[in-house]
Amino acid sequence: MLLINLKETYKQATNKRSVQRRTLQGSGRFIGLGGPDIRDYVKQVRKAGFKDITIYEKDVKVYTKQRRELPRGVKLIYGDITDNLQDKDAFYDLDFCASIVKIEDKILNKIAKIKNFSLTFALRPISLYDTVQRLWRHCKVPYITYKDTHGMVVFYKHKKQNNVS
Ligand SMILES: C[S@@+](CC[C@H](N)C(=O)[O-])C[C@H]1O[C@@H](n2cnc3c(N)ncnc32)[C@H](O)[C@@H]1O
Repeated sequence: MLLINLKETYKQATNKRSVQRRTLQGSGRFIGLGGPDIRDYVKQVRKAGFKDITIYEKDVKVYTKQRRELPRGVKLIYGDITDNLQDKDAFYDLDFCASIVKIEDKILNKIAKIKNFSLTFALRPISLYDTVQRLWRHCKVPYITYKDTHGMVVFYKHKKQNNVS
């Protein structure tokens, strides 16, 4: 049996929020993963400048909570965001709360083609070095690390930014 320990709240996640102030940038369509604190998250996303916000969620328990707390004007979809990465003009915030080892190469390939994104992974069970090497096989973009309950890394790509050489 596979047990996944989903975090129940990000209310104390101050490091996460301050990194998001740098990695979430834009003003057009935004597609992301809201998690258990959808109101705080949407507040952060709106502060970054986005107005047209769509949230995906595939965990029924989290989805039910999100529906109850959904801020006005936000679209919520029950489903897997990785089946919906084709919007060329949207900014994607892919905060999977998982290690890169859980994301298949074919999905990483699709992510590499997105123009604007932020992509967050937990640094376990593999290290920062291995996580970076693995992502850089698909796209060589910069990253920021921070500490939540454990180490995290956020890769980001903003339209006008050059890749790391
Ligand atoms: C880390 S939380 C998001 C936290 C949020 N970004 C924040 O800053 O507060 C990730 C959420 O996305 C959901 N999730 C993970 N992978 C997903 C996928 N492929 N499609 C849809 N939802 C997913 C998880 O169930 C969880 O609720």
